[in-house]
Order: sequence, then C-alpha cells, then structure tokens
Amino acid sequence: KKKIIIDCDPGYDDAVALLLAAGNPNVEVLGITTIAGNQTLEKVTRNALRIAKLAHLDHVSVAAGSARPLLRDQVVVAANIHGESGLDGCTLPEADYTVDQRNAAQFIIDTVMREPPQTVTLVPIGPLTNIALAVRMEPRIVERVKEVVLMGGGCHIGNIKPMAEFNIENDPEAAHIVFEEKWPIVMIGLDLTYQALATAEVKNEIAAIDTDAARFLTQVLARFSETYKRSKGFDEPPVHDPCAVAYVIDPTMMQVRKAPVHVEYRGLYTNGMTVVDLRKPAPEDCHTSVALKLDHKRFWDMIIAAVKNL
Ligand code: BDR
Ligand code: CA
Repeated sequence: KKKIIIDCDPGYDDAVALLLAAGNPNVEVLGITTIAGNQTLEKVTRNALRIAKLAHLDHVSVAAGSARPLLRDQVVVAANIHGESGLDGCTLPEADYTVDQRNAAQFIIDTVMREPPQTVTLVPIGPLTNIALAVRMEPRIVERVKEVVLMGGGCHIGNIKPMAEFNIENDPEAAHIVFEEKWPIVMIGLDLTYQALATAEVKNEIAAIDTDAARFLTQVLARFSETYKRSKGFDEPPVHDPCAVAYVIDPTMMQVRKAPVHVEYRGLYTNGMTVVDLRKPAPEDCHTSVALKLDHKRFWDMIIAAVKNL
C-alpha cells in the first residue's frame, strides 16, 4: 500500500480526494492535515473530520495547520464555489472525535520521520503553507519523503488570476519554498485537472450507487456543478483535487513531463504563477514534473470503484 498524508482544505473537490483515498485498496492514509483555503481553517477542519467519519477514516489523525499564509494577511476564501460552510448543501455525520493536539506541520514531520525512508508521499491539495513550515522546521523531511504530489499551478494558465491558480496564489511564498526544495515534486496543475470533468454520464453512474459515500458524492458534484456554472461558466466542473490522489495510486493514467518549475511571488501581474520551462528537455537533475494529459475514463472508474467500497 502507498502511504500518504493529505493536506487539504475541504472544499467539494477535496472531499472527492478524501473519498478516493479512503475507498481505494492500494493507498493508506496516515493522516489528514488541514489548511485555510477554500474556507477558514476552522471550517475546513470541521469538514475534514466529518468526511473522515463518513469515509470510515475516523481512526486516522486529523491535524489542523496554518490559519493564514506565511506573509500575507489572510487567505482569499472561495465561498463563491464552496459556499459559506465550505461544503454547502451536503449531508455529513457530525464528527465525534477531535483533532490531533499537534500543528499540521509538526504532525507531518513526526509521521515522515517515524516511517521508513522513502515510503511516505505528501499530497497537498490546498495552499502550501503547512508544507513550507514543515520543511523549515525539519529539513530532513526533504530526503525522507518519497515524493510530493500536489494539486496546484498550471503551465501558464490560471483560475483565480490570469496566470495564477488558487492554491499557489493564496500563499506564493510558501509555494516558492516547497518548489525550491530538491524533493521529487509532481505538479498536478490546471492543464491536467481541466480534463477531470464531472460529466452527466459520470454523475448518473454515481447516483445509481447505493452507499452513503456515493449519496454524499452526488450532492458534492451537484453543488460543484452549479457553482462552477454560475461563477465560472463551466458546463461541467473540473474536479481538481482527486487527480493528485489518482496519480499516487496509478501514475500510468496520466502523461507527465519533467520540467523545471519556479513560483513567481513578486510579479506585478503574475504573482502566484508557476513558471514552467518547456522549451527543451529538462536537465538530468530536474526534480519537478508537470502532469499534462489524463485518461478521463480510468480516472472516474477509479473514483466510482472507491465509493462502492465505502
Ligand atoms: C484548487 O482550488 C481549490 O478551490 C480547489 O479545492 C483546488 O484545490 C483548484 O484551483
Ligand atoms: Ca483544495
């Protein structure tokens, strides 16, 4: 089994990522850490606890992380997409267990240093503040983790700004820290996630499954479709975050290319941009890759199989 820590801000698509990780037999969730992003830290942490309960992950620690970016005053929450609660319109059990006493960064360090080297994959699917803090507090985690598979960025496209994707834009300094460390990083950016559309066909197939997890997923995708249509004009919503989990489980469902990536954190118009050098083959020692093409059918089949398991 592949061991992962999911650092998230649920959030509709974060919820899908958690369901996939919980229901797939080839992945073991060592912990869930939370970060302010789609909503405030308090709200996303409550959501994480409740999703964990629904997905039978309540034996797994949930550790809350940073309530704000490293340098900037506050996150710009995405209430226009995810609602005031971060998961508006969805039914979840109330969680009857509490968060880990440790900060997310400390939890990540403890877990990575406890497990054998090269066995833990970090899966950040929100702003990168917790990961940046962890690496500054304990630099040895860079050599110790297997890889960092993150949802964020894009090859010179953005969603929150012309050139910036939400997770990177919310804490560009943290993203800069994370990308400059020499651990293997796979960037699952908008180029890839814009192919992970929840089509009517996919939604119908999920609606026919008789599990609590599938019913919840149906609500999530219905709301996500509505808000993406209303605020961004998408006919079908791109379900970003589970793409990172899917890559960990089966990287062959994506085309990935090695390329140097740097984060712009001082640009006048380009703050939060991931600058990807695709001009020529990457140098031997390049530690970053970007995901470019998704097998849509295999991706959704994997999610559907996971919710059937829960
Ligand atoms: C990312 O931003 C968030 O709103 C989503 O959960 C996803 O992680 C997409 O840009
Ligand atoms: Ca997210």
